[in-house]
Amino acid sequence: MNIHSLDEANAREIAGWHYDSPYDFYNLNSNEIEQSVQYFLDLQNNFYGIFEEPRKFVGYCSFGKDGQVPGGNYSTPGLDIGMGICPNLTGRGRGRCYVAAVLNFAQQMFAPAIVRVTIAAFNQRALQVWYGVGFHSVDTFEHQYLGVPFIILVRETDHVSKA
Ligand SMILES: CC(C)(COP(=O)(O)OP(=O)(O)OC[C@H]1O[C@@H](n2cnc3c(N)ncnc32)[C@H](O)[C@@H]1OP(=O)(O)O)[C@@H](O)C(=O)NCCC(=O)NCCS
Repeated sequence: MNIHSLDEANAREIAGWHYDSPYDFYNLNSNEIEQSVQYFLDLQNNFYGIFEEPRKFVGYCSFGKDGQVPGGNYSTPGLDIGMGICPNLTGRGRGRCYVAAVLNFAQQMFAPAIVRVTIAAFNQRALQVWYGVGFHSVDTFEHQYLGVPFIILVRETDHVSKA
């Protein structure tokens, strides 16, 4: 598995993904495809593609503000990570593998002291993966606009080698 920059075709693919319920929460607005594509390609948003050999696009990850959810308290230092795997590859037991690759990439690119993710409380599948690689919850809050509960999880860098 390797991680590198996204191209426009990858960005369009992400914009068209449709997750089944309850993960349809992550589906993007089909009326805003162009805006979504531009957002993924904007270098300031730090989006990267996750690829399986040789160049099969399987998902994306993002670093920084994109991983923050409105209403959360991000006043302490930490590298926020966002990620998504292509819907038809989810739920196959490979979550830890994808997350480990993203964490290794984050370490190489940004060398953060603390990595952080913000996960919807209903999303037990994602929570299971992040807890499984050593993250622990530090805060819960409701989305500022949607009222949906979220959990902030962190992990100190000295755990990275255990991913
Ligand atoms: C979150 C994500 C990376 C997880 O990867 P995945 O390959 O789908 O996850 P897995 O199939 O490995 O499942 C992870 C774990 O959750 C468990 N699980 C699956 N569905 C579950 C459910 N409904 N309730 C509780 N646990 C569940 C699995 O048994 C597995 O447990 P294990 O690691 O102990 O074996 C991926 O689903 C994804 O990108 N989802 C869409 C976007 C998203 O959810 N984003 C949230 C931020 S990461």
